[in-house]
Amino acid sequence: MRIAVVGLGYVGLVQAACLADAGHRVSGVESDEARLRLLLGGETPFYEPGLSELVRRALDRGGLRITSEIDVAVCQSEVVFLTVGTPPRADGSSNLDALFEAGEALAAGASSALLVAVKSTVPVGTCDDLESAMRRRADARVDVVANPEFLAQGRAIADFREPRRVVLGSTSEAALEPLLALYRPFVESGSGRLVVIDRRSAELAKYAANGALALRVSMINEYARLCDAVGADIEEVRQVLASDPRIGPHFLEAGLGFGGSCLPKDITSLLHQARAADCEMPLVEALYAVNQGQRTRLAELAVEAFGDELSGRRFAVWGLAFKPGSDDLRESPAILTIDELLRRGARLTLYDPAALDNARALYGGRVDYASTALSALEGAEALLLCTAWPELAQLSLSAIAERISTPERNTPPYLFDGRNLFDPVEAGRAGLVYRGVGRGRAFPSG
Ligand SMILES: NC(=O)c1ccc[n+]([C@@H]2O[C@H](COP(=O)([O-])OP(=O)(O)OC[C@H]3O[C@@H](n4cnc5c(N)ncnc54)[C@H](O)[C@@H]3O)[C@@H](O)[C@H]2O)c1
Repeated sequence: MRIAVVGLGYVGLVQAACLADAGHRVSGVESDEARLRLLLGGETPFYEPGLSELVRRALDRGGLRITSEIDVAVCQSEVVFLTVGTPPRADGSSNLDALFEAGEALAAGASSALLVAVKSTVPVGTCDDLESAMRRRADARVDVVANPEFLAQGRAIADFREPRRVVLGSTSEAALEPLLALYRPFVESGSGRLVVIDRRSAELAKYAANGALALRVSMINEYARLCDAVGADIEEVRQVLASDPRIGPHFLEAGLGFGGSCLPKDITSLLHQARAADCEMPLVEALYAVNQGQRTRLAELAVEAFGDELSGRRFAVWGLAFKPGSDDLRESPAILTIDELLRRGARLTLYDPAALDNARALYGGRVDYASTALSALEGAEALLLCTAWPELAQLSLSAIAERISTPERNTPPYLFDGRNLFDPVEAGRAGLVYRGVGRGRAFPSG
């Protein structure tokens, strides 16, 4: 099938590369000049496991063509996927400018029937409005299908190739046919299913799914606070919850809360939509408030240990990306932690397996950077761990303790573990003073 994908970010580039790899002829359209230049040079502008190899292969074989010209791409395509960003505005609502700009440009260039699938996360009713706007502009028939994306960064390629579900929301049976044909082989290769529902429900389902995940994160973090207050261990509580098949283990890790480019903005957009519809959502309000407090929990623990004033102190920060397997710093709890520590005068050495370049672009010379996790510890009197990269868990606790133990200091070597990645008892044995999330009080404080 001939396909166009408009917006080559995390969602669009994965979609374009996977479809090209499956034998389709894909035009990827990108408007950002810097991103376009990288892509045309065969580079992938962000880190996603396996993606750069897949993109290079698709470009080499000719299945993927990258362009900035939306009208050329659309003329030659049977389906156009819109994968542009829908970032938050200051009031929490979704900024749909890129979506409508792309839609209008598509409509202006359409000389025959146009089928558009919206993969961007959009407020309920957006596809109705987009279809009307495009129909006013186009000389040909336009159909807009809601096709929300559920992939998770860090395992996006597997999620695309073997999706749990593909959701299609449409007002037109005919518009669905090409999309069903396109997705069926992917759905059948895994254990997923195609879910065909009405367009507004498809738009809302994406927010409801992210709301459910966010609720679990805030719930476990709230229990973690209680564990700290009453001397219980959240990791032990979690085992009990996770072993109940009605509850299950996923999204129940106590830590620094959710971040990234999706959950936070989708929750604020959901609340904005509810307010506009005069519908109260106290549960969603509460889960958001819990998360806002949780994101600076590690900085709080450091202040508890070292006092309000941190100037003259150096700390190492491991893990900057909002989750392992990604270099994305958008809404990362690590960034809020770093900002708070810098505000209090601390000097910082940062390490992340994938996100250091993005951190350099953000902080420049205001912090120091280390090329390895252990070298980040040199001269530091505490380690703060913000992202649960599995390779960090493999590092020796005694090697960590050796590097941050300096006898002339009057504070013991602290490990602030914002993701409960290390074992508190082992950390204590290695000579570290361990503070985790929801487990500090259950262990000797050293
Ligand atoms: N990142 C995720 O894990 C994820 C998962 C599910 C859903 N989503 C949703 O998918 C959408 C895209 O997310 P993302 O993370 O890929 O965003 P992104 O910001 O990484 O990428 C969007 C891309 O679209 C490009 N763009 C904007 N306007 C354009 C235009 N007119 N023509 C061509 N290109 C244009 C931008 O330059 C950018 O490269 C958002 O609505 C997001 O909420 C994201």
